[in-house]
Amino acid sequence: MRLILLGPPGAGKGTQAEVLVEKLNVPQISTGDILRAAVKKGTPVGLKAKAFMDAGDLVPDDVIIGVVKERLTADDCKNGYIFDGMPRTIAQAEAIDEQGVVIDMVLSIEVPDDIIIKRLGGRRTCPECGIIYHIETKKPAKEGICDGCGAALIIRKDDEAETILNRLETYHKETEPLIDYYRKQGKLREVGGEFNIASQTAEVFKVLGL
Ligand code: AP5
Repeated sequence: MRLILLGPPGAGKGTQAEVLVEKLNVPQISTGDILRAAVKKGTPVGLKAKAFMDAGDLVPDDVIIGVVKERLTADDCKNGYIFDGMPRTIAQAEAIDEQGVVIDMVLSIEVPDDIIIKRLGGRRTCPECGIIYHIETKKPAKEGICDGCGAALIIRKDDEAETILNRLETYHKETEPLIDYYRKQGKLREVGGEFNIASQTAEVFKVLGL
């Protein structure tokens, strides 16, 4: 299965990807996670990406296309993968088409902007193992501490109020056109994103026929 998770920032792509990875037994390819790791290590890609990410802007297409091309050569991609947060522009979608990547399905998770703002404002993330929490809807057992690895949870820098608004604007302008792009290819599946996390997973499985 080669699946794309599409949706605004905070739609729950990463949260649902955690479950889909188990269900489908394929890796999650999150360009956001790859870039955050590169920033942390101070690699050339990280150095290029940091200012764009901090501002809530998209990282240039050529950087993303290179990163993804390299990731797809890894052994764990042989039986498929889940793209989370990629593609974000028509140019990125065309680039993966041109690389001969055949996408099976694209799941668009649709959540109104006012809900997104609440979700991202309350998100907490584990900087070590990447598990995603929320201060109201998905609390860790011990406040501020990751259930998975015991690391102290952090607030992502791009989850500040002003940056969230810019990310939403960028989504509507640059990424939303992909919904039509994949609808025309007959690959689009759509799901509302206003359920609680468990019901959301059930809806996702239903829409994907899992
Ligand atoms: P990225 O990391 O991809 O961020 P994003 O797409 O903005 O998505 P998020 O991770 O913010 O949200 P999500 O949909 O995964 O939601 P989550 O599950 O965490 O990208 C970051 C930056 O990197 C970009 O801004 C850009 O600069 C750069 N970048 C990355 N990819 C790029 C690309 N391809 N091209 C160019 N630039 C790129 O959930 C959010 C919160 O809500 C959590 O707290 C969660 O617990 C909670 N929650 C989730 N589902 C529910 C639910 N159903 N009910 C209640 N709460 C819920």
